[in-house]
Amino acid sequence: MKKLWGGRFSKNTDELVEDFHSSISFDKRLYYWDIKGSIAHARMLGKQGIITQEEAQKIIRGLEEILKDIEAGKVEFDVSAEDIHMNIEVLLTQKIGAVGKKLHTGRSRNDQVALDTRLYLREEIDNLRELLKKLLAALLELAEKHLDTVLPGYTHLQRAQPVTLAHHLMAYFQMFSRDLERLADCQKRVNVLPLGAGALAGTTFPLDREQVARELGFSSVSLNSMDAVSDRDFVLEFLGAASIIMMHFSRFCEELIFWSSQEVQFIEIDDAYSTGSSIMPQKKNPDVAELIRGKTGRVYGNLMAMLTIMKGLPLAYNKDMQEDKERLFDTVDTLKKCLLVFTPMLVTMQVNKEKMLEASKGGFTNATDLADYLVKKGLPFRDAHEVVGKLVAYCLSNTKNLDDLTLEEFQGFSPLIKEDVYEAISVFTCVEKRQVTGGPAPEQVKKAIIEGKKLLEK
Ligand code: ARG
Repeated sequence: MKKLWGGRFSKNTDELVEDFHSSISFDKRLYYWDIKGSIAHARMLGKQGIITQEEAQKIIRGLEEILKDIEAGKVEFDVSAEDIHMNIEVLLTQKIGAVGKKLHTGRSRNDQVALDTRLYLREEIDNLRELLKKLLAALLELAEKHLDTVLPGYTHLQRAQPVTLAHHLMAYFQMFSRDLERLADCQKRVNVLPLGAGALAGTTFPLDREQVARELGFSSVSLNSMDAVSDRDFVLEFLGAASIIMMHFSRFCEELIFWSSQEVQFIEIDDAYSTGSSIMPQKKNPDVAELIRGKTGRVYGNLMAMLTIMKGLPLAYNKDMQEDKERLFDTVDTLKKCLLVFTPMLVTMQVNKEKMLEASKGGFTNATDLADYLVKKGLPFRDAHEVVGKLVAYCLSNTKNLDDLTLEEFQGFSPLIKEDVYEAISVFTCVEKRQVTGGPAPEQVKKAIIEGKKLLEK
């Protein structure tokens, strides 16, 4: 096919090059936004008298028909037309004749591709935020059911102090709610109109960029034409936010994998979200959680690839930047899939409260509370720490928990310990007494849940 830019060329593009530099196989995903952007551009050209109103109307009707044709599966894109922008221009001219050739007045593919990518990403951020909100709502609902479900909290993956499952889940609520905010913040910088920047130096035509921005729902127009066509910060920011979301997922998944192990048995992942082994008949594996953990690497890879693609690029547009799309699309798709599968996996898992309680009673998770008990009886904290350390050593050599010690045994270490010690070091007391704002006491977690609900209603 004759190239739209073929005028100055005397030879055809090498066949391998044709395939090599064509992006239609992946950027065809932008067809909807490419057409919406072109319609807004054509309408503005008409209003400004750059083309006639009739010409504008003809172009708009043609573009609307092409959109319908594509959605009806009637269109075969052509590799030799390179990318989605030129494919649609070719289709338009085929459909409405020579007037189609006027659409590209005052525009370049460089500002056009930036426009399409921004429109696409703006919408996908909305979609991802909706999915994130569903996960956040599921976390709130699950937390409400487990305000009194005690399990050990860990540091260094060693049992540390008792917390509740609600408190643990609400930690993830905080992380994912920051992600929700991060995406909204990133979207502000996505939502800037680049069209009008032309190839790099704007245009001599009297474009009304503000009108195009209004029609396409942009909150502002870019203020430097060279920046507008060479900026992919908004893609990087999104990939950064996506990487943080995946990092949160991978931590959560790691915990679900640990919790569902034979050694721990705090939860059982539903059959619908686990898989078996082709050789070991007894196996039920947390593959979904592992795969989400694994896909984190893929999203980080997309971020690193994009940072590397942009590194050292001179102003303004360079073809290197065409490499942004596959990374961006893959990240959006991966995030969506993970969100869609993670939330129901979480909601359907079975919680083994007994195992959690049993584990929180072992491992001396109440040792800090015993030290605090002694402090409240008048001992300086450092001395209390020492006394309890010795008690723990005693328990270890006698295979006992602190709760199992007799009052006599306790008093052998400190005369300050009285009958009320048993109440003070029960794991339930340990949790309930942690009333500090942001602490695990059920009353505090309830407050956090109320705050969480308000956030989701906004
Ligand atoms: N397909 C190109 C991309 O995705 C569109 C812009 C091409 N511009 C150019 N001057 N080659 O980046």
